[in-house]
Amino acid sequence: MHLRCIQCSSTYALHEPVLACTRCQDLLEIVVQTDQDPQDLRRTWRERRMSNDPRARSGVWRFREFLPGGYEQIVTMAEGNTPLVPAQRSGAWAGLRNLQYKHLGWNPTACFKDLGMTVGVTEAKHVGAKVVACASTGNTAASLAAYAARAGMTARVFLPAGMVSMAKVAQSIDYGAELVEIEGNFDQALTTMLESGDGKVYFLNSINPFRIEGQKTVIFEMMEQFEWQPPDYIVCPGGNLGNSSAFGKALEELKAHGLIQKVPRLIVVQASGANPLYRTWRDGSKDLQAVEHPDTVATAIKIGNPKSWKKALRVLRFSDGMVLDVTDEEIGDAKEMIGRDGIGCEPASATTLAGLKKLVAQKLIDPDASVVAILTGHVLKDTDFIIKRHQYVKK
Ligand code: F0G
Repeated sequence: MHLRCIQCSSTYALHEPVLACTRCQDLLEIVVQTDQDPQDLRRTWRERRMSNDPRARSGVWRFREFLPGGYEQIVTMAEGNTPLVPAQRSGAWAGLRNLQYKHLGWNPTACFKDLGMTVGVTEAKHVGAKVVACASTGNTAASLAAYAARAGMTARVFLPAGMVSMAKVAQSIDYGAELVEIEGNFDQALTTMLESGDGKVYFLNSINPFRIEGQKTVIFEMMEQFEWQPPDYIVCPGGNLGNSSAFGKALEELKAHGLIQKVPRLIVVQASGANPLYRTWRDGSKDLQAVEHPDTVATAIKIGNPKSWKKALRVLRFSDGMVLDVTDEEIGDAKEMIGRDGIGCEPASATTLAGLKKLVAQKLIDPDASVVAILTGHVLKDTDFIIKRHQYVKK
């Protein structure tokens, strides 16, 4: 395995401490090669579920044939292993008869970020980092703080002041992170963080390709849950677009290695006040149509200048995907329906159901299609939103 630039294809050794291509500054990805037989891989992954080895208990490291390796110690908290939950009333509300949720909020820090962080922090430890950092709308920070604590490292988190749910800030404090509050939005916090580097701080935003590798395993686990017969659609929210990039990378690899025959179509849903990918896709533009002042109640995805946009476009092309945006009101309504199913999620996750309702109404998705919506964060991640909406509706 090695690192490769997504733009100019320059290559680097797997553990070389480079965050971006030193030649063209674009993002890097990890090139995975394995010649193992698909049937053998499926059997090995299934058998590991019976094992008590921490690497087998992790829903990420269980698929390690497709992950970077060479580690003496992995930093894991048995992340992953999240179920598929049938969407009963909420699926019907969206007009779908065969909708399931994959709830990544049921992870150690209540968000999908743990899947990437177990790999990212393991790599950071491997290269001898003492301080790890990220900019965040709250969830990446909480996850980084937790995994850094497990690894005995200092976590420094750059948060846009006043724009992060208190529950997420509280997690970062609880796990002992250093908080740096930025007067500005997420995009500005990320720029500040990247400029703060003195060569000793290891950056763990999703521009870090090791994070993407961990997040990729969501799709491996999902395909196993489907007995390797993929659903028609996978739907996820889009913020900085690391997750959609990771999902697409998984689909490409699973197809290339004969583990799946059919590629599900990936649907990315953004909030209408923070919809740079949607604008770019709609206009067929070559450059990212960034949003200067992103604005949405779904604070997790209040991002105007997503770094992984080129990777996300590649996924949309590869999977014959779609991208759309939904209003804050549509997000609120969808979130309430997911709650009524006894599942719950944070606002950003509800973009998925809101988007599906729109697509079914527009007859772009068949009511009988098999669909998985990715719920990215737990209901307790943003209780202020629920209480405010409740008070508003009561009035
Ligand atoms: N859903 C939740 C709950 C998130 O926290 C995020 C991103 C996303 C969806 C979007 O994922 O960025 O990979 O497209 N949260 C980041 C953070 C930005 O800092 O916690 P993405």
